[in-house]
Amino acid sequence: TQHEDIDLKRYIRNIPDFPKPGILFYDISTLMREPDAWQIAMGRLARQIAPWEPDMLAAVESRGFLTAAPLADRLGCGMLMLRKPGKLPGATISHTYDLEYGSDTLQIQADAIKPGQRVVVMDDLLATGGTLAASVTLLQKAGAQVVGASVLVELTGLGGRAKVDAPVKTLLSYED
Ligand code: PRP
Ligand code: MG
Repeated sequence: TQHEDIDLKRYIRNIPDFPKPGILFYDISTLMREPDAWQIAMGRLARQIAPWEPDMLAAVESRGFLTAAPLADRLGCGMLMLRKPGKLPGATISHTYDLEYGSDTLQIQADAIKPGQRVVVMDDLLATGGTLAASVTLLQKAGAQVVGASVLVELTGLGGRAKVDAPVKTLLSYED
């Protein structure tokens, strides 16, 4: 009953000038609202990720949580959270990275990964690649073998995937 040739781009809404003037926001909320389309999207992501044979999915706060949780369940692997500072209990490892203006930090629990575990990073969207590149670096610091990165939406015009030290797979690509 899954409409396997369905164009999922029809379910992604564009909102101009959000969160700032000049930025076109790709909103996955409208995809998540449609249970059939969301299920097809998760099925396609699962088929992309399965060949990497991950032990763990690493979910990037906050929208990465949305895809990582259903996919860990489908693939039968574990998951962990990369969070903004001060959210994770116990010992953590941090990585601070530069943004266009200022910097940002992500944290992981120090014991989240057993040495050499195969980890796939999950996020909703790849734009400049700053978030995904930082996530890969942090996971490597924590002892992971980062075997891939998976996102729903890629904005290819910014060349972000070149910054990411892992193979990147995306479901939907946009040139602008
Ligand atoms: C957005 C998006 C990605 C990141 C992509 O997250 O969810 O994580 O930006 O941008 P980049 O490739 O230029 O780094 P945001 O920081 O808005 O936070 P959120 O996921 O908590 O909403
Ligand atoms: Mg995000």
